[in-house]
Amino acid sequence: MRTCIATEKLTLDDDLVIAGDNAVALARLPEASFDLIYMDPPFNTGRAQLRRTLAVSADPDGAHVGFGGRRYRTSLLSKLAYDDEFGDYLAFLEPRLRRARDLLAADGTLYFHIDYREAHYCKLLLDEVFGREAFLNELIWSYDYGAKPRRRWPAKHDTILVYVRTPGGHHFDCEAVEREPYMAPGLVSAEKAARGKRPTDVWFHTIVPTNGREKTGYPTQKPEGVLRRIVAASSHPGGWCLDPFAGSGTLGAVCRQLGRRFVLIDHNPEAIAVICARLGVTRLPGREARTARARAARA
Ligand SMILES: C[S@@+](CC[C@H](N)C(=O)[O-])C[C@H]1O[C@@H](n2cnc3c(N)ncnc32)[C@H](O)[C@@H]1O
Repeated sequence: MRTCIATEKLTLDDDLVIAGDNAVALARLPEASFDLIYMDPPFNTGRAQLRRTLAVSADPDGAHVGFGGRRYRTSLLSKLAYDDEFGDYLAFLEPRLRRARDLLAADGTLYFHIDYREAHYCKLLLDEVFGREAFLNELIWSYDYGAKPRRRWPAKHDTILVYVRTPGGHHFDCEAVEREPYMAPGLVSAEKAARGKRPTDVWFHTIVPTNGREKTGYPTQKPEGVLRRIVAASSHPGGWCLDPFAGSGTLGAVCRQLGRRFVLIDHNPEAIAVICARLGVTRLPGREARTARARAARA
């Protein structure tokens, strides 16, 4: 695996982690090369996405009182953030989606991850860019975590819109996808119940567990289990997968597990640092690292 910046010459000779604006990097990648493109852009929530990691330690002068009257102090270990507010969200997405379509192989597939705020506008944009006949699925990822408002139904799902490069000519390996338990196993034979069922277009899956192995601390990190289904079904073993909004690098981690090649792009130097730590790249030492980060911030 190699790290580089978006303005460099980009060749698919190794797994790549690219620092810089994806509009610049996408323009430099070879067309018709990718089995799968997974896009998980900022959702245009109108606020910065921020994840704080806190350390708690015993301190007689601490502000928090715990069990048995003991006092504790919390301190901020790290703060990871990226901006999520766009003047014209669809105008930001459109050129990137058009380029993504050109980068897909003839049997390739785009997975576009979004939430309820923009999903319907994005569907119309994707219909325009790919053609309505190229629409394959609307996946609902349902989770159950976080605050629940009392005056409306708590929004606890994301939408993943799936489009293919060539209608009817896409790769899809349903047998490669991990099966899941039947909701009512008593209604099917014991043999079927033991084998489990193929997932449908509604996926019940937890968010990244707060203390689990996967957790990187990067805001809006997606669970590997969700990405595993996508990669298993819609890419060939050894094929190339691309994530232009890579964040913590979940797509790369899953590609490693399933024997696929990957290209990850992010313009946030903190994301690049998290990806390098997660995927085990030796980061550039001292001055070189600072120069690379500065170049990435300018790219
Ligand atoms: C929703 S997060 C992706 C999370 C990722 N799927 C994960 O599992 O960690 C969106 C990412 O897109 C990046 N981003 C936003 N605009 C970008 C751009 N123009 N070029 C490259 N990266 C961008 C942000 O820095 C952020 O890391």
